[in-house]
Amino acid sequence: METVVHEEERGRVLSLLQAAAKGQTRSDEMRLRRADGSYRWMQVTGAPRKEGEDLLLINCSAFDITDHRIAEEQLLALNEELEVRVAERTQKLQKAFDDLKMAQAKLLQNEKMASIGQLAAGVAHEINNPVGFIRSNLTTMGKYVDKLRAYLEELEKARDALPEERRAELNQLRKSHKISYLLEDIPDLLAESVEGADRVRTIVQNLKSFSRVDQSQYAEADINECLESTINIVWNELKYKTTLHKELGEVPRIRCYPQQLNQVFMNILVNAAQAIETQGDIWVRTFVDNDQLVVHIQDNGCGIPDEIREKIFEPFFTTKEVGKGTGLGMSISWDIVHKHGGRIDVESQVGVGTSFFIYLPLSGAPAPDDEGKDPGGR
Ligand SMILES: Nc1ncnc2c1ncn2[C@@H]1O[C@H](COP(=O)(O)OP(=O)(O)OP(=O)(O)O)[C@@H](O)[C@H]1O
Ligand SMILES: [Mg+2]
Repeated sequence: METVVHEEERGRVLSLLQAAAKGQTRSDEMRLRRADGSYRWMQVTGAPRKEGEDLLLINCSAFDITDHRIAEEQLLALNEELEVRVAERTQKLQKAFDDLKMAQAKLLQNEKMASIGQLAAGVAHEINNPVGFIRSNLTTMGKYVDKLRAYLEELEKARDALPEERRAELNQLRKSHKISYLLEDIPDLLAESVEGADRVRTIVQNLKSFSRVDQSQYAEADINECLESTINIVWNELKYKTTLHKELGEVPRIRCYPQQLNQVFMNILVNAAQAIETQGDIWVRTFVDNDQLVVHIQDNGCGIPDEIREKIFEPFFTTKEVGKGTGLGMSISWDIVHKHGGRIDVESQVGVGTSFFIYLPLSGAPAPDDEGKDPGGR
């Protein structure tokens, strides 16, 4: 047996024979040596032949299954290779799908911003006109009231010449209509209304410069003005819980995509406000550093832990609860600033606050290929 059966399968022959000795017929696969010394895979069956309780002999038959085994092994290897290839393809497909999803989300976000801009510009245009005549009518009314007041004063002087009874009647009427109070209050009311109309006018101007539909693409812009109008737009998010410190330095105008930079400032300012739980400060600074214009937006909010600092620019990365953040704000900002040939740096300490430094080249953003054409995303 030692010379015929491959050493790795000798144990199997033994158990085959032992089973046969107990009267059981068994089959197993094993390598048997041929006369030329080569091994072949055989299906070996051991069947006992008994007479009563006595074992007469064990009938052994062997069937060559080498070709079958080889085919089986080849199939197995092929299968494994196929699985690896399928996994690779799936991975590639998944990546393509993720990229597509990201591109679509960014496109949607850009479109959303563009339509908000257009809507804002439309509303601003519609409001501008009525606010204009409200403002001018109020000024005219003020002048009319002054004239009426002068006339009334003259009438009051003439009142002394009236008969006693008529004079008493007029005095009574003056009292019951609270004419003194009205004369005192009218200028205040008018001044307040003018102030209100002026405020509406400022909001409209901010909306217009924020959306910049008039110069929506590549233009020379004053970054301080961009920041001012963006701050006004997000003021509602900031005013209740933050004290804003503006330290806007003297910076030159630069060629850029002002509407897109406004979007960057808005994202960072809103994030800063959201990082402040109850009450805090936000500093907005601009200055020139060598050949860069720097916008530094700092907050003393919750801060960003080291382990997620690198991730905040990844699309869809958010630590905000579902429905509150899409996680696109910083990735879009990163794109926009890089499109300008600039960069964003972040410094943060948990419990102390966060600083975003936006560096923009003074030489301006690379010009678009075609006039008015957006150079597109990453
Ligand atoms: N000033 C900051 N202070 C603390 N964490 C911040 C600050 N700015 C960004 N982050 C962190 O970076 C993450 C990503 O910010 P990003 O603006 O991209 O998304 P988001 O604010 O969560 O959602 P949205 O798409 O609505 O802006 C935030 O969820 C937050 O964890
Ligand atoms: Mg955000």
